[in-house]
Amino acid sequence: MTNKSSFWNTTETSAGTLPSPAESLAGRDLCSIADFSTIEVEAVMKLAHAVKAEPGKYRWALDAKQMVMFFEKASLRTRLTFEAAINTLGGNAIFVDQTQSPLGERESLADMARNLERWVSVIVLRTYAHETITEMAQYAACPVINALSDLEHPCQALADFLTLEERFGSAKELKFTYVGDGNNVCHSLMLIAAQLGAHCTVGSPKNYAPKADIVAQARAIANETGGSIALVNDPIVAVKDADAVYTDVCTSMGFEHEVTKRAPIFKPYQVNEQLMANAAPHAVFMHCLPAHRNAEVTDAILDGPQSVVFEQAENRMHAQKALLLLLLGGTNNVR
Ligand code: CP
Ligand code: NVA
Repeated sequence: MTNKSSFWNTTETSAGTLPSPAESLAGRDLCSIADFSTIEVEAVMKLAHAVKAEPGKYRWALDAKQMVMFFEKASLRTRLTFEAAINTLGGNAIFVDQTQSPLGERESLADMARNLERWVSVIVLRTYAHETITEMAQYAACPVINALSDLEHPCQALADFLTLEERFGSAKELKFTYVGDGNNVCHSLMLIAAQLGAHCTVGSPKNYAPKADIVAQARAIANETGGSIALVNDPIVAVKDADAVYTDVCTSMGFEHEVTKRAPIFKPYQVNEQLMANAAPHAVFMHCLPAHRNAEVTDAILDGPQSVVFEQAENRMHAQKALLLLLLGGTNNVR
C-alpha cells in the first residue's frame, strides 16, 4: 500500500503549506480546462505519464467505484476510453444514451444530481449546452466531468498535450497552431496551451474565430506562464514554423446543417501537404477525430508520417485514468 504522499508532496511556501494537487483535485469538477490551475494540469499530466508506463500499479485504485455517463451526442473515443479507464482501475461504467431527449427534460438537473450522487462517484456528461454541465456540477456532491459540450472539450485537450509532452518533452514554448473552426476543441486547446506555457496561434476564417471571452481568459493565463495566444486569419501565417499543427471538423455536432455554407469558407484552411510544408520540418499533425477525410485534412496528411492522431486517441484513456484517479482520490489506493 503506497500512501499518496509518495506521489505528491505538499508545498512549503512563505504563506504556509499548500495542498498537493492530489488533495486539491479530490472531489472537484472538470467543466472547463480553466477550472484547474497550471500546477493541477501538470499533476494530471505527470500522473498520466506514470499510469501509462505502469498501468498494473493502478489496477484496483478505484475498486468498485461507479461512473455514470450521460451522452446527448454520438461518441466512439470518449465513451470507450472512459469505460476502459474506469474498468481497468477496478471500477465500473454505466452508460446512458441521452441522444433521444436532452438532459433536464424528464426531470430537473438538480433532482437528477441529488439522485445520482447517492449511487455513483462521478458523473460524465456529453451535452449540447455547456450550461447543462455547469448546472449538474452546481448541484451534484460528486465530481462532474465535461466529456464535450458546445463550449469545451477538456479531456481531449489533456490527452493532446500529453501526446505533445511525449513527443517534445515539454509543452513550454512549443509553437502550437490550430487551424479551422474556433470551436469547443479549439477553446480547450487554447486554455491548456496557455496553462502549460506554449505559444498558441489560431488561424480561422473571419466570423469563425474562438469566443472572445475564452481568448481573453487564455491570454490572462498565458501572461502568468510565459505562453502566448495569437489569432490570425491567414492559414499560411498561422502554420509558419509550427511544431504542431492541429485541426478539427469545420462543422461540429449540432452544426451539420451548415455543411454546404461552411465548405467553401474553410477550403483554404484544409491541412494538406502544401499547407503543412510551412510548418517546421519536425512538426506533428494532430486531430481529435473523427475526421472528415479530404475536407479539413487530406488522407496524405492524416495517414502520413507526421500524423500522431492515433497516439492522441490512445492517450485519451491514459489522461482520463489520471483524471479519475485524482478527482476520486484514487491515489490513496495504489498498491
Ligand atoms: N475525439 C472525440 O471526442 O471523439 P468521440 O466523439 O468519438 O468521442
Ligand atoms: N468539434 C467536434 C469535436 C468532436 C470530437 C464536435 O463538437 O463535433
